[in-house]
Amino acid sequence: MRLLSSIKYALIISVVLLFQFCSDIASDALAPEKTDLTYTDDIKPVFDRSCIRCHGEDVQNGNVALNLSSYESIQNYIGDVPSYGIIIVPGLETSTLLIRLKPQYNDMYKYLDDPEEYNLIYDWVVFNEAAE
Ligand code: HEC
Repeated sequence: MRLLSSIKYALIISVVLLFQFCSDIASDALAPEKTDLTYTDDIKPVFDRSCIRCHGEDVQNGNVALNLSSYESIQNYIGDVPSYGIIIVPGLETSTLLIRLKPQYNDMYKYLDDPEEYNLIYDWVVFNEAAE
């Protein structure tokens, strides 16, 4: 009888610990994402500051014509599946835009003023459907 109740006790403790562990993981994963981002309020200021001198209305550097200066223009690069010219697939963290901006690669990332701007653009694409 005593053995049975210590087993029961140990079991309850493990379940409680496991639950705590899982909710810690869940809150870690959920904490940073922002869900009310729009191009106009949050992303355009970053693109204007860091990107449009090479990817703007009149200047389009490189082999790809990329004009990041308005949402109207950006709509040309948003699609359902990754393909040539489609740099934003809402919900997809491997969208070309995010790959080119990845901090580890220091490719287009180097033009950002602040590392937080990468998170902003990431959340806009992945969690906010690249909203206008
Ligand atoms: C100093 C010029 C310059 C700046 C500033 C710049 N880029 Fe670029 N970017 C380029 C060039 C040149 C290419 C094309 C060559 C290449 O693919 O590396 C390019 C390519 C890209 C591509 C790939 C397009 C495709 O269809 O494959 C993306 C996405 C991109 N840039 C995003 C950005 C973003 C976002 C910013 C601002 C944070 C930015 N770039 C700032 C010069 C620049």
